[in-house]
Amino acid sequence: MFLVTGASGGIGRRVVRILRDREMSVRAFVRLTSRYGELEHRGAEIFIGDLEQQKDIHKACQDVQYIISTHSSDGNPLALDYRANIELIDQAKVNGVQHFVLISVLGADRGYEDAPVFKAKRAVERYLESSGLNYTILRPAGLASNLLPLAERFRETGVYLLIGDPKNRTSIVSTDDLARMVVDSVTVAGARNQILPVGGPEILLREDIPRIFGRIFNKEPIIINPPLFMIDGLRGVLGFINPQAQKNLGTFRTLLANEFFCTTEEITNLEAIFGFELETLEHFLRRYLAV
Ligand SMILES: NC(=O)c1ccc[n+]([C@@H]2O[C@H](COP(=O)([O-])OP(=O)(O)OC[C@H]3O[C@@H](n4cnc5c(N)ncnc54)[C@H](OP(=O)(O)O)[C@@H]3O)[C@@H](O)[C@H]2O)c1
Repeated sequence: MFLVTGASGGIGRRVVRILRDREMSVRAFVRLTSRYGELEHRGAEIFIGDLEQQKDIHKACQDVQYIISTHSSDGNPLALDYRANIELIDQAKVNGVQHFVLISVLGADRGYEDAPVFKAKRAVERYLESSGLNYTILRPAGLASNLLPLAERFRETGVYLLIGDPKNRTSIVSTDDLARMVVDSVTVAGARNQILPVGGPEILLREDIPRIFGRIFNKEPIIINPPLFMIDGLRGVLGFINPQAQKNLGTFRTLLANEFFCTTEEITNLEAIFGFELETLEHFLRRYLAV
């Protein structure tokens, strides 16, 4: 039995699909408010709970052999990116789990002080590494599926909002490829007890994204490019109203202010470990947007 957290999310639902296509038994950890109809339809066991509740984690981990942690933090990195994952790892040990797969983030080890999600991910990575469990930690750059709503907006308006330096490099990964790597991590020997940076096959500049949209929809992009200090201004104002939200915006700012890409060697290594060729961003988008 596989336990998948974040099973209704962008990565999680694709992981459940692959596991069910391979006729593996899956327990999908969802919330009552999650959209889990498809998971149920595919034959996953639906576990309704809240990852902020220790007792729900304890119950969900019973009788599982594999744990795949793909949930995100919903504005509370301490409770979800950190504490829920620590609890899942502890319960994995109690239940004799054979392999634990953690979705971390590219750059988790760069020591960004202002980014709670990155700090939580790094602390959990360390905890998992020293847990004695078999593990795979995947550190993705941006996910291609996040760009689908932006592409739909672009289709209608031709407008793309690009905050910060358009020349910053990024390696957006196909969310389907990532899900396949997640699932294969428990069987592929080269992925055992590894921390792997994960990106797409090409290093893109952030300004390439509206260009790709433009090619796909045959439309000249109108790029609106506000500078990063506008985010800083927004954070300053937010600090008076909601200090917690101001802190959480630090992760967002970190993502905008830095480069997140994998080297060619890292991608070659990834393709060699998992034995398939990674899909480009344009290919992913054309598949989903049917153009
Ligand atoms: N998005 C990116 O570009 C990116 C890049 C690098 C790494 N990552 C990492 O990849 C992972 C998945 O990202 P994603 O974009 O697929 O996430 P996502 O689509 O936002 O999905 C998040 C999932 O977590 C669940 N969740 C949140 N709070 C929960 C709670 N209290 N109890 C139970 N479930 C809860 C959500 O449930 P609901 O459906 O009920 O909301 C949802 O299923 C995260 O760990 C993220 O940090 C993402």
